Amino acid sequence: MLSAMASFLPCILIIISQLANLSVAQNSGRVNLGQSLTAGGKISSWLSPSGDFAFGFQQFLDKQDLFLLGIWFEKLPDKTVVWYADKNNPVSKGSKLTLTADGGLLLNDPQGGQLWNTDPIVGQVDFAFMNDTGNFVLQNKNSENIWESFKHPSDTLLPTQTMEIGDVISSRQSGTNFSRGRFQLRFLPNGNLVLNSINLPSEYTNEHYYESGTSNISNPGKRLVFNDSGNIFIQRQNDQIFTLTEGKLVSTKDYYYRATLNSDGVFTEYYHSKNTSSGGNKSWTALWSVPEDICIASFVYKSSGACGFNRICRLNADKRPVCECPRGFTLLDANDEYRGCKPDFIQDCQLDTESSPEELYVFQEITGVDWPTSDYEALQAYDEDKCKDSCLHDCMCAVVIMRNNTCWKKKLPLSNGKVDNNVGAKAFIKIRKPNVVPDQHSASSSSQTKNQNALIIGGSVLLGFSVFINFLLLGAMGMGFLFIYREKSISTRQDKDVSRFNLRCFSYKDLVDATEVFKEELGRGSFGIVYKGVLKDTYEPVAVKKLDRNFRDSEKEFKAEVNVIGHIHHKNLVRLVGYCDEGLQRLLVYEFMSNGTLAGFLFDDMKPSWSQRTQIAFGVARGLLYLHEECSTQIIHCDIKPQNILLDEFYNARISDFGLAKLLMMEQSQTNTAIRGTKGYVAPEWFRNMPITVKVDVYSFGELLLEIICCRRSVDLEMGGEEKAILAYWAYDCYREGTLDALVGNDKEAMNDMKNLERFLMVAFWCIQEDPSLRPTMKKVMLMLEGIVQVSVPPSPFLFGSIC
Ligand SMILES: *[C@@H]1O[C@H](CO)[C@@H](O)[C@H](O)[C@H]1NC(C)=O
Ligand SMILES: *[C@@H]1O[C@H](CO)[C@@H](O)[C@H](O)[C@H]1NC(C)=O
Ligand SMILES: *[C@@H]1O[C@H](CO)[C@@H](O)[C@H](O)[C@H]1NC(C)=O
Ligand SMILES: *[C@@H]1O[C@H](CO)[C@@H](O)[C@H](O)[C@H]1NC(C)=O
Ligand SMILES: *[C@@H]1O[C@H](CO)[C@@H](O)[C@H](O)[C@H]1NC(C)=O
Ligand SMILES: *[C@@H]1O[C@H](CO)[C@@H](O)[C@H](O)[C@H]1NC(C)=O
Ligand SMILES: *[C@@H]1O[C@H](CO)[C@@H](O)[C@H](O)[C@H]1NC(C)=O
Repeated sequence: MLSAMASFLPCILIIISQLANLSVAQNSGRVNLGQSLTAGGKISSWLSPSGDFAFGFQQFLDKQDLFLLGIWFEKLPDKTVVWYADKNNPVSKGSKLTLTADGGLLLNDPQGGQLWNTDPIVGQVDFAFMNDTGNFVLQNKNSENIWESFKHPSDTLLPTQTMEIGDVISSRQSGTNFSRGRFQLRFLPNGNLVLNSINLPSEYTNEHYYESGTSNISNPGKRLVFNDSGNIFIQRQNDQIFTLTEGKLVSTKDYYYRATLNSDGVFTEYYHSKNTSSGGNKSWTALWSVPEDICIASFVYKSSGACGFNRICRLNADKRPVCECPRGFTLLDANDEYRGCKPDFIQDCQLDTESSPEELYVFQEITGVDWPTSDYEALQAYDEDKCKDSCLHDCMCAVVIMRNNTCWKKKLPLSNGKVDNNVGAKAFIKIRKPNVVPDQHSASSSSQTKNQNALIIGGSVLLGFSVFINFLLLGAMGMGFLFIYREKSISTRQDKDVSRFNLRCFSYKDLVDATEVFKEELGRGSFGIVYKGVLKDTYEPVAVKKLDRNFRDSEKEFKAEVNVIGHIHHKNLVRLVGYCDEGLQRLLVYEFMSNGTLAGFLFDDMKPSWSQRTQIAFGVARGLLYLHEECSTQIIHCDIKPQNILLDEFYNARISDFGLAKLLMMEQSQTNTAIRGTKGYVAPEWFRNMPITVKVDVYSFGELLLEIICCRRSVDLEMGGEEKAILAYWAYDCYREGTLDALVGNDKEAMNDMKNLERFLMVAFWCIQEDPSLRPTMKKVMLMLEGIVQVSVPPSPFLFGSIC
C-alpha cells in the first residue's frame, strides 16, 4: 500500500542532532562576537528564545563523524532541517564556527582551513541572533540586518520569509544528501514564479515545468510572501495579492509551517502540530503542492524528465512521483535512482545479425505509458502487429508506441517517461528473451481440438435455499467448483502471438530456487498456496502457485489446459509465465503483481480515490469481457471476487485464476461437482439446478462493483445494524431513497461525479438480477459503464423485495 505519511517525510529522520546536556549555549537567541560552536563538541548549537529553532551542527545518524551546519526545528523529534550552508556540507567532527566582526560567521575545519563564511556582508558585525521565526541574522551597531539566512535560502521557506525578484531556492540531492539537487524555484524578473530542472553538474537551466502566471506586463508580481498565518501568495506591483496556497489553514499558534522544494521537484507547503506529546501528530502534513502532476509537467527536451533516463514516472496518491524501471531494465546506480535505468541486455546492431530477431526479442506491453521525447521515426496507418514487426526488424528500435494508428519508433535513452492514462497509447518495449524452453503449444493443440463442443457440467444443488438466505447463513457453505469451457477454433492470429509469449516449463528445482524454498507466502486460494519468487535467470519477479496435491489427471491433459491458459493475454488478466509438472509437483508461475489484491486495496483504512476505483471497475469489466467474448477460448471464471483481482504496478486491475476452474475440474469425477464460488458473490443459479452460463460471472461482477463503489465488503456483519450488513440490500435502499452520499461515505470526489456514480450503481443492480436472462452481457456492461448506451432503471434485484 502507499504510505501517505512516509512520502511526506523528507527522509530527515536519518539525521538527529546530538545535543548533550551542555551543548546548548544560552536561550536568549543572542550570539556575541567571538562565540563559537564545535561539531561534536560541548556546545554545538544556538537556540532561538522560544527554543523552536536551533542553528548549529547536526550529526548524521548514519555517519558518526559527519555534521551538517544548518537550522532546524529543535522541538520536533526528527529535527527537520530548514536551512543549510551551501558549500562544504557536511563537515567533519571538530570543525568550528565562530562569529567575527569583519568576516561574519567563519566555518573552519579542524586543521583551521576555511570551509564556508557568510559572504557577502557589508560593514561590521555587532552580534548575531537566532530569531523565533527561524531566521538567523547578523546585525551591525545600528541594529540593521547585514546578513540573514532568510535571504540565502536553501530548499525551504518559512512563514515571514519572502522571495524577491531574482531569488532562487534549490532542492537537495536527497533527504540525506544536501548537495545541490536537480530542481529550482525561481522568482523571475518578469514577475513569474517558476519551477525548473537543471542539468547537473552544470547549471544548464531547462524550461520551467510550473509557472504562477503572474507576469502580466501592466501588473507583474514583485514578491513572494509566506505570511504569518501560513499563506503563500505573490504580491503584484500594485500590491494586489495572487494567492498560491490552497486548502484550509490551521492556526500558526498550534502548528509549524514550512514550504519545501522536495528533491523530486514538487514544491509543497506542509504543517506539523507543535504538540509532539503522545497524542500529537508526529509527521508533516502536506497542505498544498505544485505542480499538479510532475510526471506530465516536467516534460522537457535535452533532459531526462522527473525520474531519469529509461524510467517511468507515476504519480502516487500524495501527488509525488514514483520512479520505476521498465521490465528488462535495472537501475544504473542503486544508490542514485535518478541516474536512470539501463537495459539488462545488449542491444547491438552488430550482434543482432547472428540470429533472427524473432529468436532474440520479445515485447513487453504497457498501456498508458509514453516517452514523448525519444522518437526517431513515425509510421502512419500501422496496426499493432505491423508496428511491432517494424521495431523487431530494426536493430536501433528500443520501444514502439502505438497511438491513433500511428506507430512511433523510439531509441535509447528513453526520456520523460510517464504514466498517462489520457494518452491512450500502448507501449511495446523490446527486450531480449531469456533462453526459453521450447513451447508446448504445437504439441497440445491437437488434444484441445478433441473436445470442441461446449462442455457444461451442471452444478448439483447443494442447498435449496435462496441465495440471499445463504448470505445470512454465513457459516457453512461448501466451496465447490464447476466450470464451463467452450473451445472455439484457435485463430491464426493467436498462433502468431505464441512465438512472442512462450510459456516456460520450469523444473521443480528452478522454482525452489526462485522462491527460496517457498519462503514468502503471498496468499492462499482455493487451488493452493501462492509464494513470491524471483526467476534466477531473468530476475523477473513472479508469483508461484503450488497447486494442491490432489491432481490425478494425466500429464497430457494438464499440459493442454495450462497451454490454453498460457496463451490468453490481455492487459487486465494476470499472465501465466510458465508451469512445472514434475511427479506430484504441479505449479503455475504467474507474473508478479506488486500492488496486491483488490481486497487489500479497497478494504484498507486508506480509501482509494473515486477515480482510481472507477478505473479498476473498467479494468475488471474489460478483463471479463475478454474472457467471455474475445479470446479464442470462452472462459467462465466462476470465482470473481476482490481476492482474485490483483493490481499491477500502475494499479491496473488484473484478473487472476481464470481458467483454473477447468484445471481443477479435470481431476474431479463428474458426480461430485459442487458449487464453485465464494459466498457473497455466487449467482443464485448455482443453487437452483439451472444451466451455468457466463451470467454467473456477471452476477459476481455486480457484487464486486458495489464493493468498489462503496469500499466495503458485500457482506459485513459489523456494519452497524442489519439493514447495512448486506451491501446489495443497503445499496438498493439508498438508491431508491436517493441517499447516495451515504454509500460513498460523503466522498467529495465521488459526490462531484454523481452522474457516473448513479450509473455505476444502476449497472450493478442490473448485474445482480436473480433471473440470469435479465442480467446484461459483459459487453453491454462495458457499454453502460462507459456511458455509451443508456442504462434504464433497474428492477429490484430481489424477488422478495428488499427486507429492510
Ligand atoms: C525577529 O523577527 C521578527 C519578525 O520578522 C522581527 O519583528 C524581530 O525584530 C526579529 N528580532 C530580532 C531581534 O531581530
Ligand atoms: C551527494 O550526491 C552527490 C551527487 O550524487 C555526490 O557527488 C556526493 O558525494 C553526495 N554527498 C554525500 C555526502 O553523500
Ligand atoms: C493584466 O492586469 C491588468 C490590470 O490588473 C488587467 O486589466 C489585465 O486583464 C491583465 N491581463 C492579463 C492578460 O491577465
Ligand atoms: C496572510 O495572508 C492572507 C491572505 O492574503 C490574509 O488573509 C491574512 O490576514 C494574512 N495574515 C497575516 C498575519 O498577515
Ligand atoms: C497535547 O496533546 C495531548 C493529547 O491530545 C493533550 O493531552 C495535551 O494537553 C496537549 N498538550 C498541549 C500543550 O496542548
Ligand atoms: C497525522 O498526519 C498524517 C499525515 O497527514 C495524517 O494522515 C493522520 O491522519 C494524522 N493523524 C492524526 C491523529 O491527526
Ligand atoms: C488521429 O489521426 C487522425 C488522422 O491522422 C487525425 O485527424 C486525428 O486528429 C488524430 N486524433 C488524435 C486524438 O490525435
